[in-house]
Amino acid sequence: MAATNIRIPSRLLFIDGEWREPVKKNRLPIINPATEQVIGDIPGATAEDVNIAVEAARRALAGEWGSTTGAQRAKYLRSIAAKVKERKPELVPLEAIDSGKPLVEADADMDDVSSTIEYYAGLAEALDSRQKTPVPLHLESIKSCVLREPIGVVGLITPWNYPLLMAIWKVAPALAAGCAAILKPSELASITCLELGEICREVGLPPGALNILTGLGPEAGAPLATHRHVDKVSFTGSLATGVKIMTAAAQLVKPVTLELGGKSPIVIFEDVGDLDKAVEWTLFGCFWTNGQICSATSRLILQESIAAEFVNKLLAWTKNIKISDPLEEGCKLGPIVSQAQYEKVMKCISTAKSEGATILYGGKRPEHLQKGYYVEPTIITDVNTSMQIWKEEVFGPVLCIKTFKTEKEAIELANDTEYGLAAAVLSKDLERCERMAKAFQTGAVWVNCSQPCFWQPPWGGKKRSGFGRELGEWGLENYFNIKQITQYVSDEPWGWYKPPSK
Ligand code: NAI
Ligand code: MG
Repeated sequence: MAATNIRIPSRLLFIDGEWREPVKKNRLPIINPATEQVIGDIPGATAEDVNIAVEAARRALAGEWGSTTGAQRAKYLRSIAAKVKERKPELVPLEAIDSGKPLVEADADMDDVSSTIEYYAGLAEALDSRQKTPVPLHLESIKSCVLREPIGVVGLITPWNYPLLMAIWKVAPALAAGCAAILKPSELASITCLELGEICREVGLPPGALNILTGLGPEAGAPLATHRHVDKVSFTGSLATGVKIMTAAAQLVKPVTLELGGKSPIVIFEDVGDLDKAVEWTLFGCFWTNGQICSATSRLILQESIAAEFVNKLLAWTKNIKISDPLEEGCKLGPIVSQAQYEKVMKCISTAKSEGATILYGGKRPEHLQKGYYVEPTIITDVNTSMQIWKEEVFGPVLCIKTFKTEKEAIELANDTEYGLAAAVLSKDLERCERMAKAFQTGAVWVNCSQPCFWQPPWGGKKRSGFGRELGEWGLENYFNIKQITQYVSDEPWGWYKPPSK
């Protein structure tokens, strides 16, 4: 497929069920990271547009959308999922050209998008019979029950690595719960999120239920996060921005859910069995999505006795990865999303070198690609635990390696990070895997694999990877206000005070 054959739709902001020009009429360029060429533009929202969208969301909650049942919301969600499926052939190349991810990955993302929406449609439907859940009390005279109400207007701020999928992880449960949402996708990859607006318009989603504001973080994201009438913010992105969002939210005691990336370990024991299989999981764990995954297992912690043989195989497999324009058949590694991110990744590699680490493979632009933000898959050894490459998230195809002798040492190395999103362990000894799974200070553990992620189990981190859980039934709980209704049901007076004498 050629980039010139892909039509980039020109869109406005999606507010109150219709396309609206941003108040300040700003536009931001879309740059194809594979060619460095401007291929279109997106609207740039500012605080003025955020105010209009928040008003629309509030009206939606007070009106038609606010009075829907779970079953009615499920119908809307199913129609959205059906449209995503129908438009998949257009959405896949748009996602690839905007984010730089290989076509096959964008294809898998779109399947996850429609499956996640359908999954939350199911939970929305089940919600109607879960209302007024009785809470047993120790008193006969009083009955109590619980209502799950939508928490209100929610601000959803998302990153560029899985543009539409990360948005859907938030949008689908928010709509299922009955919230009115304002989505602020990343300015680096907003195309498919704007197409979601068109899909919502086509299926007749009530106006204001979902508003989509593209724009820069400080100009559109910050006013959304700090808005007095936004009842909750769910954010996925960098630690630095997460800290800003939480600080702003604290002023209004606004709840937040934060997913802030990591520096996840993959621990491989000598009893792993087939080394080639383990090598493949190591590659998938760190180089998939061009290495731009919050949960990338970018610290390989390898038992010393197999290190030499394993690293030889790792090099052979890495050399075999096809790096090309994401639209090219067979591509398994595309460009980094933007020039700024490319420079950040290159800087991490040069800092590793200057701190004394060895760049065993890669570390530079591939020779056959002189344009585009391409970085070779990179393997770094001679790493110590005080180096930046051990401690900080690179967000690129860069793997660093340390060896260990004992299980205890492996656990210490694995947990030697401020982050706590995910960890992987590979070993044939399943009791050992269970011990490791318990020892990892993370929100997710992979055993004998790395990265497979599904919409049914919970997703989220601890430590500086953030808090709160998305996906599964936990993802829905994020968007509720849990209200108790307690009713006095006895005919007897309460009897606390003495009645006045007559
Ligand atoms: P970022 O955290 O700046 O961007 C994420 C989202 O937050 C975007 O929609 C952005 O517009 C918005 N944003 C930025 N500043 C904001 C503010 N002050 N208030 C409200 N919203 C704001 O991440 P960026 O700059 O795109 O990437 C930088 C680094 O972040 C990466 O190198 C990587 O280490 C990390 N990252 C982690 C991700 C994850 O999945 N946890 C995803 C993307 C980036
Ligand atoms: Mg882009």
